[in-house]
Amino acid sequence: MGTLTIGAIRERAPGERRVALVPEAVTLLRRAGLDILIETGAGSGAWFTDADYTDAGATVVPPDELYARADAVLCVGPPDPESAQALRAGQTVIGLLEPLRHPGLVKELAEHGIRTVSLDLLPRTLSRAQSMDALTSQASVAGYKAALVAADAYDRFFPMLTTAAGTMRPAQVLVLGAGVAGLQAIATARRLGAVVTAYDVRPASRGEVESLGARFLDVQSPAAAEPGTGQGGYARELTEQEQRAQREALDTHIARSDIVITTAQVPGRKPPLLVTAAVVERMKPGSVVVDLAASELGGNVEGSEPDKTTVLDSGVTLIGAGRLPAAMATAASTAYARNLVALLRHLVRDGELVLDPADEITAALIGGAAQKGSASS
Ligand code: NAI
Repeated sequence: MGTLTIGAIRERAPGERRVALVPEAVTLLRRAGLDILIETGAGSGAWFTDADYTDAGATVVPPDELYARADAVLCVGPPDPESAQALRAGQTVIGLLEPLRHPGLVKELAEHGIRTVSLDLLPRTLSRAQSMDALTSQASVAGYKAALVAADAYDRFFPMLTTAAGTMRPAQVLVLGAGVAGLQAIATARRLGAVVTAYDVRPASRGEVESLGARFLDVQSPAAAEPGTGQGGYARELTEQEQRAQREALDTHIARSDIVITTAQVPGRKPPLLVTAAVVERMKPGSVVVDLAASELGGNVEGSEPDKTTVLDSGVTLIGAGRLPAAMATAASTAYARNLVALLRHLVRDGELVLDPADEITAALIGGAAQKGSASS
């Protein structure tokens, strides 16, 4: 039995500055007896130098050497076509592979004998999987950053300020979708002193919203009759009719807010449309809307596009958030690497990477694909 070799590649997606392993994670994995390869320059976007990795006990190598030697390849986002081509049979690739969004990639890799461990398939409500939950760690960063982006684009104060020249009223912030990102956006906006209201289709989120000092919005939602909670703790997709009724109920609250931050997602589906262009029109000039769900499929806000900020004719600034975790690459990478260390501690047994389909966590991560057995060097 040889030593298991793990390699972290340089991310190649545009604007992606995160890296799968940071030096502190290398130290921990070395202590656990693994050999670590880092692609040259992999950490530079997150301010980690090749020397930092070498000092932590990794070997910094060019990509061809990494692909030739690594038993498992770690990444943040799905590998680009060139990196995917470089993977070889028997290797395992571990990352946020988004199999629900890009089913073709995982299938193609499986056809070439490459095993995939998709961190985004982790069961979210299993307490022993929490330390591996990369969706949570990255959504926390995104939610925090979303509040800061909104505050930055807003030309008034978030807190109430009492000065010699009189009192400034606090900003009214509305957060739609109170999952991990939404709760972090609420907490951050509260820390800045805003008055925060939030809404989620899952009734369970009320307590969490209120514990952060925000008000939970009681809208006459059709989901009140039938809870909006679906499988695995996630929201279910509302019917078209339910969505329309929900928007009508939310419109007045949206129009009154200074800041709206939307974070609503339903796994594997197009994000629900919560804010129409017509209601954005009704917001006051100077208001700011940040859509964290903006994607190629559309977002929570009509007309939002990822990585695009538009000042509308009405004077409302509409920000389609792109990769917000990548905009805080050091914190996001550090948290992600901790998730990977926890995952590898779970998967590595006696120097082998074991993908045991009988284990609940592993079974979810390999997505039930025809991936059996274990890998070793
Ligand atoms: P997500 O990113 O899939 O969605 C964000 C939020 O949007 C969710 O709270 C969802 O209920 C909400 N949403 C969906 N459709 C909506 C609509 N039409 N209107 C308003 N809101 C809508 O969710 P996230 O943040 O990844 O969390 C998923 C689930 O996992 C949640 O239930 C969360 O509490 C749970 N979770 C549990 C953990 C634990 O038990 N330790 C850790 C992390 C997450």
